[in-house]
Amino acid sequence: MPLAEALTVDDIQLGTSAFWARPLDERDAAFAALRAKCPVAFHPELEVLEGRPEGPGFWSVTRYEDVRTVSRQPHIFSSSQGITLSDEAPEARDFFGSMIVLDDPRHSRLRLLVQRGFTPKTVAAIDESVRVRARNLVAAAGALGECDFVESFAAPLPLQIICDMLGVPAADEQAVFDWTNVILGAGDPEFGGSFDALFAAAMSMFNYAQALGQDRLDHPRDDLVSTLMQAEVDGDRLSPAEFGSFFILLAVAGNETTRNAISWGMKLLTDHPDQRRAWQSDVDGMTPAAIEEIVRWASPVIHMRRVAMEDTRVGDQEIAAGDKVVMWYWSADRDETVFDDGHAFDLTRSNAKAQVGYEAGGPHFCLGANLARREITMMFQEIFRWLPDLQITTEPDRLLSPFINGIKRMRCQFTPAAVPIAT
Ligand code: HEM
Repeated sequence: MPLAEALTVDDIQLGTSAFWARPLDERDAAFAALRAKCPVAFHPELEVLEGRPEGPGFWSVTRYEDVRTVSRQPHIFSSSQGITLSDEAPEARDFFGSMIVLDDPRHSRLRLLVQRGFTPKTVAAIDESVRVRARNLVAAAGALGECDFVESFAAPLPLQIICDMLGVPAADEQAVFDWTNVILGAGDPEFGGSFDALFAAAMSMFNYAQALGQDRLDHPRDDLVSTLMQAEVDGDRLSPAEFGSFFILLAVAGNETTRNAISWGMKLLTDHPDQRRAWQSDVDGMTPAAIEEIVRWASPVIHMRRVAMEDTRVGDQEIAAGDKVVMWYWSADRDETVFDDGHAFDLTRSNAKAQVGYEAGGPHFCLGANLARREITMMFQEIFRWLPDLQITTEPDRLLSPFINGIKRMRCQFTPAAVPIAT
């Protein structure tokens, strides 16, 4: 009997770390079983972070249409009490209080202000730096013939681009990178795992960013931070503290997501050489759909959480005001009513664009989606061009997290090449 049919709903406890440590095919089977047998299931919430009180539990929404229903009704399903499984600590609100955890009207006020930094013109200006940075990472690793893929290719690109955008000097890039690892790796013992570690990293990053914002307020330059700090909507401006938490959001959201899309993409291409050959022989034609399929399959952000503001229902399930509701994007992206054989990686899938990896139709749709698409595209194009036989040679060492589908490390091999530096 297939695993999904054998599993009972009680076997599947999404609030436990043990569940998230299981192999991915078991995760797939568990979500398939939930979609089929109990599409809105209640899960007790076990302690995710050391030192935090146990929460009340949460509803798990696993079907594609139900996830979209929740996402598109922000007046009923609020983001303001946190967007991950565990309750947000009040002490951390200042740091993580950016727009992703706000409802309207505060959400749209902040989004209008920061959108200035993501106009087609600003993104076009970053475009060139994405190409140069991707090439230079490939050039730096090119002579090695063997290295860690995450460390040499997938992780540095999004980090460098965010730092370029935010005007972070090269000397501080590593600190920004380490803070984001601690914040999103919360729960994985390798990154500190405790609430104290998370809090300390957030505070350091917030102080760093606030100082940067204040500096650009006092001494504007030709960079994104100055644009953001000087932007005015109806006489309203970003305060340095608001910039501090926006910086944390951008650094975390921009780094840990795109890097995992690139890493999973390379692993999937290694496992599916026929599809890789097809893509490499028609790079321009296949790239747009291929990168959607990578993000669908990887679902780098596994879930987003809301809280019901009134008694309501999702599907046939009644939900009480105050209950936590979790949208499992990972599961929606595999829903068999939308994606044929959703566990399969298929670069020719005609509807990969319907994936909800960046959002599910609500007002919090990913601000950086186009930038992420550009980064993933550039990294694969540069690898295909200069290191065309690059292969992943070890199993991914996965991040232990119910939130980010992360790969911490995995080795790769390729024929060494002298790759010219781009300027
Ligand atoms: C493959 C890469 C990425 C994925 C999968 C991803 C995914 C997501 C998801 C799922 C959301 C929340 C949507 C919701 O609540 O329904 C989100 C929001 C957001 N993302 Fe991304 N993201 C990626 C890359 C980026 C990049 C590169 C940036 C910035 C440079 C970025 C910035 C943001 C911001 C600022 C928000 C909050 C928007 C709001 O609250 O209005 N993301 N992203």
